Amino acid sequence: MMDFTYYTPTKVVFGRQAEEHAAGLIRELGCKKVLIHYGGQSAKASGLLDRICTNLSQAGLEYVPLGGVVPNPRLSKVREGIRLCQEENVDFILAVGGGSVIDSSKAIGYGVLNDCDVWELYLGKQKPKGCLPVGAVLTIAAAGSEMSESSVITNEDGWLKRGLSHESSRCRFALMNPELTFTLPPYQTACGCVDILMHTMERYFSQGSSSELTDGISEALMRTVIHNARILKSEPQNYNARAEIMWAGSLAHNDLTGCGRGGQGKGRAGDWATHQLEHELSGIFDVAHGAGLSAIWGSWARYVYRENPSRFAQFAVNVMGVPNRFEMPECTALEGIAAMEAFYRELGMPTSIPELGIQLNEKDLDLLAYKCSFQNTRTIGDFKKLGREDMRNIYETASRV
Ligand code: NZQ
Ligand code: ZN
Repeated sequence: MMDFTYYTPTKVVFGRQAEEHAAGLIRELGCKKVLIHYGGQSAKASGLLDRICTNLSQAGLEYVPLGGVVPNPRLSKVREGIRLCQEENVDFILAVGGGSVIDSSKAIGYGVLNDCDVWELYLGKQKPKGCLPVGAVLTIAAAGSEMSESSVITNEDGWLKRGLSHESSRCRFALMNPELTFTLPPYQTACGCVDILMHTMERYFSQGSSSELTDGISEALMRTVIHNARILKSEPQNYNARAEIMWAGSLAHNDLTGCGRGGQGKGRAGDWATHQLEHELSGIFDVAHGAGLSAIWGSWARYVYRENPSRFAQFAVNVMGVPNRFEMPECTALEGIAAMEAFYRELGMPTSIPELGIQLNEKDLDLLAYKCSFQNTRTIGDFKKLGREDMRNIYETASRV
């Protein structure tokens, strides 16, 4: 096991009525004026937003609401939020929603506390000095932003989707009531499950040293998500299944499943190629993040598995339940990839780009690879380093399947 730094300062309150802790926790932090940030309509329609407003008012907290965050959250909304926070002297941001709302909240938090233009931070031209405190009431198990140090924002000018990771943006608290996810449409539930699996796989398929414990946690997490996603297909209001998936979503992206395996920075493993490839896709075509990931993953996996077939064979056996053909790890590996794709299809998720309703032509493939390679200035991936040509090949395979 390699040395690592593990830092997860987010206080988690998990279970029924968890959202009622919001006001108390904000007061504990000494904050007085809250931006309540939310998405399109789900939090309003369910009555959650009203309950939060009442909770804050009764505790003597002032608040100002800002809704309208869309999936793949936009920079223009972030800028609106920064202006509002400055005008209203907001000192805390409460995100009520999923990854998009939490990420938009983090970006607003950066914008308020840093002198530069917020997009400069996402382009890596400036380093953040800090972030206004953010807390989350989670309504969808998926992105893991409630415990991650990341946020991902799309700039409509050029449709660039860029991520920023900084510890100051980790949520101070995450309030997780699985009942709040009962209203999710099956498609969003499935997208969330894919994303949770992918956050685990991105760390699992990296070239770090081995850690029996970290592997075991990762494999159990993936088996748990697969098992409970199947239950939710017929029982969307099964509390325990929702709870297992919600907790898996946080653990999949709070770095637990990367500890001790080395890889990129801080001794925590990570490949992230599928994510990088997907971000260009959802940046340009505005697809749901989970669906974009499932459309690309199989093409990535078949492109890279020969770097370490035994790793893919271990995944096939321990996660997907494929029989181990000891003398032929490559065959076992390929069966594991096929089994995961079959599971994605079972959830109604795409396993190719055309299934997203996107037909890529040669120019599109060039553009995606060019953008994903940051104008041919970077490689992506850790399991196998991928240059611009590799990226194009994977996009092309994914658009043919
Ligand atoms: O806007 P509303 O009406 O709330 O509808 C949302 C949205 O349309 C709906 N929804 C959420 N909770 C609901 C609900 N509908 C009914 N009942 C509920 N309880 O679900 C839709 C998707 O919401 P969104 O927040 O976009 O989903 P998700 O959590 O998957 O977030 C996706 C974003 O997170 C980024 C993605 O790239 C994408 O932009 N990611 C963020 C990460 C991070 N910060 O660590 C890591 C991830 O890899 C990912 O890149
Ligand atoms: Zn993701």
